[in-house]
Amino acid sequence: MAQNILSRSNATHGVLDAVTRVRAYHQRTKHMPERYAPGPGYMDWANQPDPFRRFSGAPIVELPLVRDDGTPPYDAMFQVLRTPPQPLTAESLGLFLELALGLTAWKEFQGTRWALRSNPSSGNLHPTEGYVVLPVLAALSDRPGVYHYAPREHALEQRCVLDEAACRALATGLPSDTLLVGLTSVHWREAWKYGERAYRYCQHDVGHALGALCFAAAALGWRVAQLSVLSDAEVAGLLGLDRATDFAGAEAEHPDLIAAVVTDPAALPPRALAEGAVAAVRAGHWAGSANRLSPKRVDWAAISTVADACVKPSTALLPLRGLARNDGLARRPMRAVPRAAEIIRQRRSAVDMDGRTGLSLDAFFGMLARTLPDRPHSPWTAIDVPPRILLCLFVHRIEGLPPGLYVLMRDETRLDAFRAACHHGFAWQHVESSAMPLYALTLGDCREAAAHASCFQAIAGDSAFSLGMVADFSRTLEEDGAWAYRRLFWETGLIGQVLYLEAEAGGVRSTGMGCYFDDFVHQLLDMNLAHDAWQSLYHFTVGGAVDDGRLTTLPAYGHLSSERISPPWRGRISESVGLPT
Ligand SMILES: Cc1cc2nc3c(=O)[nH]c(=O)nc-3n(C[C@H](O)[C@H](O)[C@H](O)COP(=O)(O)O)c2cc1C
Repeated sequence: MAQNILSRSNATHGVLDAVTRVRAYHQRTKHMPERYAPGPGYMDWANQPDPFRRFSGAPIVELPLVRDDGTPPYDAMFQVLRTPPQPLTAESLGLFLELALGLTAWKEFQGTRWALRSNPSSGNLHPTEGYVVLPVLAALSDRPGVYHYAPREHALEQRCVLDEAACRALATGLPSDTLLVGLTSVHWREAWKYGERAYRYCQHDVGHALGALCFAAAALGWRVAQLSVLSDAEVAGLLGLDRATDFAGAEAEHPDLIAAVVTDPAALPPRALAEGAVAAVRAGHWAGSANRLSPKRVDWAAISTVADACVKPSTALLPLRGLARNDGLARRPMRAVPRAAEIIRQRRSAVDMDGRTGLSLDAFFGMLARTLPDRPHSPWTAIDVPPRILLCLFVHRIEGLPPGLYVLMRDETRLDAFRAACHHGFAWQHVESSAMPLYALTLGDCREAAAHASCFQAIAGDSAFSLGMVADFSRTLEEDGAWAYRRLFWETGLIGQVLYLEAEAGGVRSTGMGCYFDDFVHQLLDMNLAHDAWQSLYHFTVGGAVDDGRLTTLPAYGHLSSERISPPWRGRISESVGLPT
């Protein structure tokens, strides 16, 4: 039985073990109607963090902007080996990074302009930074190296040039034409607005960015596999995050993950790096100093504490467990939907829902089916652990499905455990027509409860359906260690990224909601609040969006020269000594 977290965190003196510190952080950063998690309480505009990190002094490599992208129809991204792989070139790399982490539009209101990106982010604060480790690439780089991606410039900053030994060490065990991608987080960017709860949002955003990488890769016929054995120290070493002088006076970047992007679909995705590879990269020739993002920062002690507790050691390779085939996916016919790149570029968060638009049963089941972990398909190649997140669904407007509270058990083997933790009077009626582990718990209008659960956000009740993503929480921490706290949020972000794109392809829109009342969801399920066996980690809503007509939309890369559009882009490397304005 899970321990009583409240009594234990109050009673423990001295140094708390890492799992206990994570549980205490999770508990203290819960939003409740009468007490939101500790935050600044106001917007300190003078210190608003710059959403664009740059490395002054690092040579800049401009990437082409590929307009005639030739990506397959959206649905093909979910069918493994259906998309012929594009060769790794400057153009395909440019398209990959644009579709994963690049800009999709600028919005303007009363003289203020802000950029939107392929990957969503809580508060649009974008704590996630992206890196690539590249082999030699004609017209881009004549030396392999570590590069930071600058989304505003759609350019790479050459942080490190690798010598022969490092290239050899990195290439060992990697299929040819494989690139590595890295994700890191600047916690301060989220903490500036959200205070202590920001660490959670950074982790959600990593999950979304990983999902965005997977879908960008799938659009090119490539595959993403996370190198989950690496420790945080190794990730930091590979990306140069531990080079203190390069970050002097600037906000630290915390290592999140490294993934391999395999461009040859016949190759076995790698799962680790050769011994000595990280040390060899560390010894490369590094350049560039990180820009400072805010004049002044607040040190949120709770974030430093949980970040320390969640540091990942290197871990053993997990056997790739076979996941149940997803019948729902197999059944779904290809639809006449736009190309993958179009759907990715049009993805937006709904700011308002119309309270009318519903979904057909087929469309609803189709969306849910794609959230099921089906390893050969995107984005589920990115994680090598069994699913730990289930969906608790508030069904409002699905034709042929009575409104009510439903559960999708993404890991059916946990059905009995979850059922035992919930209200004993729930119906647990299997929705057989879904051909998925989807169960009706209780029927009735739950629009008000959904909005209430999501910090009274009307979009949760005015949608076709909304949901809470509930984690198999205490078991994961106890079995896998404190750092797995981050992985739980990453999984919710992956699910969220699927729903974002699925909503666009289905002619509706969605929004991730990091603002929700944690324990209200647990109360709806009648769980014992003294225990943390199951915890709601993220909310989502899908429905008919109402646009904010006051905003002007501008093209994503209208600020770049037309020479960057491919063809006829020819590539250019410039030596940078300072940051461009
Ligand atoms: C982790 C996360 C939490 C979010 N929480 C909320 C929320 O509680 N309410 C909301 O209206 N939007 C929320 N959003 C949506 C963001 O505000 C949105 O992604 C951001 O403004 C960028 O816009 P875009 O998604 O259209 O690119 C969240 C997004 C993410 C990724």
